[in-house]
Amino acid sequence: MPTQRLLLLPGDGVGPEIFAALEPVIAWVQSSMDLEVSRAQCGYGAWLAQKETLPRRVLAEAMASDAVLFGSEDNEAFSSLPPSERPASALLELRQTMGVFANLRPIRVARSLVDNSPLKPEVVEGADLVIVRELLGGLYFGTPRGVETLADGRRRGVDSLVYFSDEIERVARAAFELARTRRSKLCSVDKGNVLASGALWRDVVAAMGRAEYPDVELSHMYVDNCAMQLVRRPTQFDVIVTENTFGDILSDCAAMISGSLGMLPSASLSAPDASGRRRGLYEPIHGSAPDIAGKNLANPIGTVSSLALALEHSLHAPELASRLNAAIDGVLDAGIRTRDLGGDGSTGTREMARAIADRLPLSQPA
Ligand code: IPM
Ligand code: MG
Repeated sequence: MPTQRLLLLPGDGVGPEIFAALEPVIAWVQSSMDLEVSRAQCGYGAWLAQKETLPRRVLAEAMASDAVLFGSEDNEAFSSLPPSERPASALLELRQTMGVFANLRPIRVARSLVDNSPLKPEVVEGADLVIVRELLGGLYFGTPRGVETLADGRRRGVDSLVYFSDEIERVARAAFELARTRRSKLCSVDKGNVLASGALWRDVVAAMGRAEYPDVELSHMYVDNCAMQLVRRPTQFDVIVTENTFGDILSDCAAMISGSLGMLPSASLSAPDASGRRRGLYEPIHGSAPDIAGKNLANPIGTVSSLALALEHSLHAPELASRLNAAIDGVLDAGIRTRDLGGDGSTGTREMARAIADRLPLSQPA
């Protein structure tokens, strides 16, 4: 196996302090495999320093890496600028240029956190699902978009929910394949009773199910119903596939099954290139959390779990991923809790990261 390359992009908000706290964990990974790690700045910090949220050099490095671990980006920092002057989001540009259309958001309840969810223990116990969110289409990238001022002085904001059948097919394929490695159940979520793009979504996924994946138990659900079912009986789901905005919203909702948004990782994957390699962008789903940034309060588990996903899906080290996940479970079993998990505040970002690092078994360099 050639040297693997991992790029760390802490970004803004709680990202930098989480990444700094995780240096011992990164060092452990490096001591356990042949891995070259580099670090770069993007987001608001990069914009302040060089008027670019995603410097070209950083983008080129991301494209050349086997995996990119991203922290968060503080889009709020630009809210004082008029919409037309706000710089492009580094994260959205990264997703788009890397072509990572399949965003996997696994949600499971750690055994010791069953009582931590705002939902009843008997509702969340045993929940184990993955939301596959389409990441490069729909409202996030559809055109036309923008804000215009009309002749009568009113302003008009437009976004377009556009999907091409091949965009639906490629993400549905990723979801069907993932379902086959799990409990072979796929629920496709749309709003086909109202939206044209939703009706197309359902049509395309249903046809694929019949023609190519008859072994996968396929169901369809409207997105409003899905939001309800996620909190009513989350154990009914195995894999959910849905469009970009619905996936964004449903994954925050589903995060409450696990008790905290701070726990959840994500993996975004491209199609394989000629050599079979998929680009991989890994990020916790919690965002920059400006209200707690710089206070050593953020839970680093979402980022550690994202690193585990990178080890599994991009860096050919599933064994190390299992050890990282076991270390997270060990820390939670020991009752170590950041504040979002009900802790009293004595365990912060650094203490949690240290507790995880302390539970990583020494391994021989590969
Ligand atoms: C997410 C986040 C991002 C998104 C934001 C920060 C742009 O909410 O990954 O879920 O909307 O995709
Ligand atoms: Mg989101």
